[in-house]
Amino acid sequence: MSALVLPQDYPRLRVVAGFAELSSASFEDGVHALCWQRELSGDFGEIVRHFAGNEGITSIDVDQLIGLALSPTGRVAAAVLVEDLRCLQALGLQPELNVINGYRREEKPGPVPRDVMSWHADSATEETDTWLCTYYGASSEALRHEDALCCSLEPEIRAALLAVYGGGDDAGFAEFLSEECYDLHYSARPEATPYVFGQGNLWRVATIYPGCPVPPCVHRAPAASRGELRLLLIS
Ligand SMILES: [Fe+2]
Repeated sequence: MSALVLPQDYPRLRVVAGFAELSSASFEDGVHALCWQRELSGDFGEIVRHFAGNEGITSIDVDQLIGLALSPTGRVAAAVLVEDLRCLQALGLQPELNVINGYRREEKPGPVPRDVMSWHADSATEETDTWLCTYYGASSEALRHEDALCCSLEPEIRAALLAVYGGGDDAGFAEFLSEECYDLHYSARPEATPYVFGQGNLWRVATIYPGCPVPPCVHRAPAASRGELRLLLIS
């Protein structure tokens, strides 16, 4: 596994010691990303290869994991996955374990790309966090808050969005931006240095929801093409 290099002196990121601290910690004092750094054992690639023939996203459940014919190191990896799924389910979450073999890109992206490979914040109508772990393949990555520029607030892009909207910069336009998720997408400042989530680490990051006490953690999926497989837990 690749060594994880987390940004130093970044007060919005907190490294925690284990699952109990990860699940009980609050997003407060500006902290919007929590990371449980882990060095996992097991051959996750062996599990991924069972699904390599599928395109796009394949969700795997616990029963499928248990039913796979695996070597001893593959079984170690499967046990980690089952445990992670059960830990998140015990919190009342609905985690998904996905083998990803290429993401679908928007056919006509317009002024702001809105796929998961573009910088974005997750959003919800009530208090919700995003949980992420990449077990295999390129990991998700994040921007420091000060490096993220909301696309819909950048004058040139806003003008292009107004042209798509076909009206004035009014309450209706704000509603349009929200309904179309244009307000959830960001660009990186030219001097930005994104940080990667790394393999094996379990992350909990802040989303946008009414009353959220901290700004969201702006992140993106790696631009992996078909054939560059990933194994991702997401909730
Ligand atoms: Fe996301």
